[in-house]
Order: sequence, then structure tokens, then C-alpha cells
Amino acid sequence: MTDLRTGVREDFAEIFGREPDGVWSAPGRVNLIGEHTDYNLGFVLPFAINRRTVAAVGVRDDRILRVGSTFSDELVEVPLEELGPGTLSGWSAYPLGVAWALGEFGADLEAVPGVDILIDSNVPVGAGLSSSAAIESAVALALDEIWRLGFDRRTLARVGQRAENVAVGAPTGIMDQSASLLGEPDAAVFLDCRSLDSEIVPLGLEEAGLQIVIIDTGVTHAHSTGGYASRRASCEEGARVLGVEALRDVSVADLDRARELLDDVTFRRVRHVVTEDQRVLDTVRTLREHGPTAIGELLDASHVSMRDDFEISVPELDLAVETAQANGALGARMTGGGFGGAAIALAPADAVSRIMVAIDGAFAEHGFGQPDVFTVTASQGAVRES
Ligand code: GLA
Repeated sequence: MTDLRTGVREDFAEIFGREPDGVWSAPGRVNLIGEHTDYNLGFVLPFAINRRTVAAVGVRDDRILRVGSTFSDELVEVPLEELGPGTLSGWSAYPLGVAWALGEFGADLEAVPGVDILIDSNVPVGAGLSSSAAIESAVALALDEIWRLGFDRRTLARVGQRAENVAVGAPTGIMDQSASLLGEPDAAVFLDCRSLDSEIVPLGLEEAGLQIVIIDTGVTHAHSTGGYASRRASCEEGARVLGVEALRDVSVADLDRARELLDDVTFRRVRHVVTEDQRVLDTVRTLREHGPTAIGELLDASHVSMRDDFEISVPELDLAVETAQANGALGARMTGGGFGGAAIALAPADAVSRIMVAIDGAFAEHGFGQPDVFTVTASQGAVRES
């Protein structure tokens, strides 16, 4: 982390020829449980991880926004007057989309100065760990402070989501930005995606001798295309037929009636969301009453529901989950939007290396590409670093 922070300062000075006014950082996230429930206005339980994006920002004396990153040679420049979702594309749509979205939430963009922004990150891209939300949250926090806007973090999460929905064109929910902005060490963020009320739920992993293992399958996904949007459309169709505003309003007890009203595919999509909301509530209660060793079965059940009902898993994710379970994990599931990305396993610390070796072996045996397997800790959300 220190390296990333110092590095971005030095790179900023080299590229822009002066010191930045500040450096902000924001983490990626892992969702412990509650998948595809956010845009159905239900519950999620993600946590911020110890992989971060840093943004060095310096005020300019004109009205130009310039953004660069250590992962692209391109320096993108847009006059504030021309900032709009239609003018943005590629990776810079994330940071510049945030600048635009701040205006949508009431910031007076005619009264603010231009800025230079340089971004660096060690959140893996395309792994389902929200590298995009990490960029959005770091930039949102930085611009909020530099431009003296005074938005609260809940609003900044909505700003990041708006940037992603409109400037990037991915119809994602509010979970990732909320985790990145609200996360705390060794704790998860229990978020009600309708009211946006959140509570910090201590995880107590270290105390329980547990670790979270990430298995990045290397299978890439993009939420601006394909499956994610079609799942969301099915959920909206289910809510419409059932006569509710969102699937949040359907309970497990309503599922019998739902089965009569919906076609088989839509019913299974609905059943995933409804039971997943319940699993989030059960996980929060279990964590509070019995601690993290007791939540394994809920994680396993979540994976089965995503694999069979929501149908967003892929063979690599299923293999990662099964291999972790067979080698001592207390529970495992794919995490994030699906169709690739990563799985998580909750495991006793002394089983971690066995799980890692077993997963490498199983992937090789199946002829799958080598996965990236590592542990993460639940960490601090977005902060000003210097
Ligand atoms: C992606 C989206 C989130 C959420 C998850 C699925 O990560 O960005 O908003 O919908 O998928 O739970």
C-alpha cells in the first residue's frame, strides 16, 4: 500500500510536472453473501479488501480535466464544459464519469476548477473484485474534497453507481461502491439497498482462526454486455408479474404463489433473489450470535442457488468451490456478478495452503487456465492518504 501511495505521487510529478494536492485511495470488495439482490432493492453483505486503487489529484488553473493511469499510456483530456456521458469511453469513463455524475447530484460544475488525476491500482481487473468501484470511489472522494462539495459517503456511492450505469453503460447496483466507501477493518457492510441504511457487522475472522481465500478463475466478464443485463431484466419481469415494486417485496413464503404465476426460468431467477435475501439476513444473525465459523452452509447454499436457479456460474467457478469445500473450507461460493471472475472460500487458516494446492491441481487436471489464488482481509474503505 505504501508503495502504491508513494509511487502514484512520484508518477504524478513526472507526468504533470508538479506535486499533487492530495492522494486518495479506495478498496476493491468481496461480497460475502447477497448476490444480484442489490438492484432488486434487497440486502447485501460485502466487505472492503486490502487491494486498493489510489488517485493523486492536483487542481489546475483552467477548466480542463486530465486523467492518466499507470495501466494505460493514454492521457485523456476533457474541458469541463464538454463533460457528458456521450463524450466518454474506455477506462477513463470511470473517473470522468464520476466528475460528470457529481454534477447530476447537484454539484455546480460551472464553479469548479479543472484537475489532473493519476490513478494506480492493485485490484485485479475482471476478477469480480470491483476494480471499477475502487476507481469510482477514490475519485469521488477526492473530487468531493478538492471541489469542496460536502456530499456524504452514501451519496458518493450513488454518484459512482450513476457513473457506471450511464457513462460506462453497465446496469449495476449500489453494492460495490457502498462497500468501497463504507467498509471497515475486519467487518462487513450490511446494506439495505432500498433505504441505503447500512450497519457495520464485525467478522471476527482472525479471532476465529479463519481466512478468506479468493480464487480468481481468470475467466473474464463484462457487465455492460450479456448475462448480467438479462438477469436483471428477468428480475424486473418477475416483479412486474407479481405486482411488486421490486423482488425485495417477495418473501420465501410467497414463492408457492410465484411458481403458479411465472414461467419456469423467471420463477427460478426470482427464487434465487428471494432466498438470497433471506440468506443475507440469516448470515448477519448467525455472525452476531455464533460468529463466522457458523456461516459456511449459508455460503454453500448461495452458490447452489446461483449455479442452478440464477445460472450465472461457470465450470471454473464450480470447480473452485467444490475443491475448496472438499479440502477443508467451511463454505465457498462464487462472488460478484458471475459468468467468470472469482470464488471465495471461508477456511481455517491451517487449511489454506492445502486448498491452494488442491485448486491448482484440479484446474490443471481439467485443462483450465491457472487460477490466481490468494487470501484477502477485510479492510478500511476509501480514505485520504496524504
Ligand atoms: C456486480 C454489480 C453489483 C451486483 C453484483 C451481483 O458486482 O456491480 O452491483 O449487482 O454484480 O451481486
